[in-house]
Amino acid sequence: MSIIIDQLTRLLSAADLPDPPPADPVPLLQRWLDEAAASKRYDDPNAMALATADASGTPSVRMVLCKSVEPAPGALVFFTNYHSRKGRELEANPRCAAVFHWPHARRQARVEGVVSRLADAESDAYFDSRPLLSRIGAIVSRQSEPVASRAELVSAAVRLAGSAALGQPIRRPPHWGGYRLTATGAELWSGHDGRLHQRVQWTRAAPTDPWAARLLSP
Ligand SMILES: Cc1cc2nc3c(=O)[nH]c(=O)nc-3n(C[C@H](O)[C@H](O)[C@H](O)COP(=O)(O)O)c2cc1C
Repeated sequence: MSIIIDQLTRLLSAADLPDPPPADPVPLLQRWLDEAAASKRYDDPNAMALATADASGTPSVRMVLCKSVEPAPGALVFFTNYHSRKGRELEANPRCAAVFHWPHARRQARVEGVVSRLADAESDAYFDSRPLLSRIGAIVSRQSEPVASRAELVSAAVRLAGSAALGQPIRRPPHWGGYRLTATGAELWSGHDGRLHQRVQWTRAAPTDPWAARLLSP
């Protein structure tokens, strides 16, 4: 019995999430991302599963990379093909949810909100910063559409690489760019022994409202 009491006492002092929770979850999410990157334990510490739903409410989910966290008003930025399945779903229904998982740190972070497209100049700047091969791949891939063969895709990339070698500029196609997921909900989860995990949920009705935080049962 006393062993259990000792374990529980240690659990109380081993809190990963600040108590009381901060008023704004976004700086803490940024800190968790930074710590995941600094740990060097993840190939893609900024990878998140992004869940969307079409106009009828049918959900779908896939991984994307979170390229930045914007502190005010609190948003995640990712890039994709606007004609892809996720792009089409987000155009029909901009509400979506994302989740990060850093298993070595026993941490999970959830974000919910509404997306809007980045301004063209912002997407151009990011596209132009990418390696040539990634830019070529983004142009030749009709993401989420059937393709006859991998050879067909690679041949298109080879042709475009040839044009680039002759000096043709490789510009961002209009159907490829960024989305800004402005958060109205967030939850940070920290795993602890005995399933006595910590969960803090933040909600706000609109991005201009202050966040309200509460602890949730694990
Ligand atoms: C770790 C990881 C990161 C990925 N990052 C992106 C990304 O940033 N943007 C993207 O469009 N696809 C990314 N993908 C590919 C997507 O998961 C997905 O296959 C693709 O976007 C098509 O999804 P859709 O058909 O639902 O639109 C990534 C995949 C993995 C495994």
